[in-house]
Amino acid sequence: MQLTCLLSFIVLLPALVLPEVIPPQIAAHTPFVNCNEFFAKPGGIVTFPTIFNQNQYKQICQKYNNMYEFATLYNTDDKIPVYSAYLYRGNEVCDRKNTWYIEPQLDDPNGSPNMRPKRGVNGAGEHQALNTDYKNQTEYERGHLYPVFHTFQQCTVNATYTLTNAAPQDRSLNRGKWRVQVEGATKTFLDAHCFSGFAYVVTGVVPGIKKLKNRVIIPSFFWSAYCCLDKTSMKPTYSGGFITPNNNQRD
Ligand SMILES: *[C@@H]1O[C@H](CO)[C@@H](O)[C@H](O)[C@H]1NC(C)=O
Ligand SMILES: *[C@@H]1O[C@H](CO)[C@@H](O)[C@H](O)[C@H]1NC(C)=O
Repeated sequence: MQLTCLLSFIVLLPALVLPEVIPPQIAAHTPFVNCNEFFAKPGGIVTFPTIFNQNQYKQICQKYNNMYEFATLYNTDDKIPVYSAYLYRGNEVCDRKNTWYIEPQLDDPNGSPNMRPKRGVNGAGEHQALNTDYKNQTEYERGHLYPVFHTFQQCTVNATYTLTNAAPQDRSLNRGKWRVQVEGATKTFLDAHCFSGFAYVVTGVVPGIKKLKNRVIIPSFFWSAYCCLDKTSMKPTYSGGFITPNNNQRD
């Protein structure tokens, strides 16, 4: 499936210090105000995929060690992201991690602006998934949207390990076709064709009906789209995308 570079928006930057989960009254006018660098700017104008304005959709500027690493639109009712957006800057071999973070401000408005482990976050889990939601599952595991495989430094790897960047993904799809035919194929293409310019990626899910632990919606599909811009003209050069059902696709 081909997806083109996405809708245009004009953004006005207010002189405000905002939390990393952007309040709805501001989010409605200035999408991802602290981290719009993760969205393509064809012709110099920042563009966003669909921004939903209902209260359960939270725009998260994903912050790790006080640095913005990527952006996520998160659904607190479904407890899964809609998408994560990032700039692909090549892939370095870094260590994987096994500690997962959460987004403190989804459950506690006074929480840390940095992602962190659940311990010490007031009300943790009320508006987001936790590790316990994925415990004892055989069919589904925490599937990254911004994958480790597309990161370029260790702190970015670490930052992808936040549950707001993951959704229940069929285990064999996560380890097989998704990794090879989507993450791998995208990486190969971007390395070959877009490395001299800017390569933007947005990866998301389509919510299904069933839930894990009666809390976390299992996606029916995973999708991913990229848009490359020429470094000088900022015009789109290549774009493409993938969508696949979230089930066992071993041949
Ligand atoms: C996982 O399974 C073990 C053994 O059956 C059980 O003790 C534990 O409570 C379960 N954990 C969760 C989070 O369901
Ligand atoms: C990444 O996480 C690991 C394990 O938690 C930690 O030891 C390491 O210092 C972190 N690295 C960076 C660059 O943040």
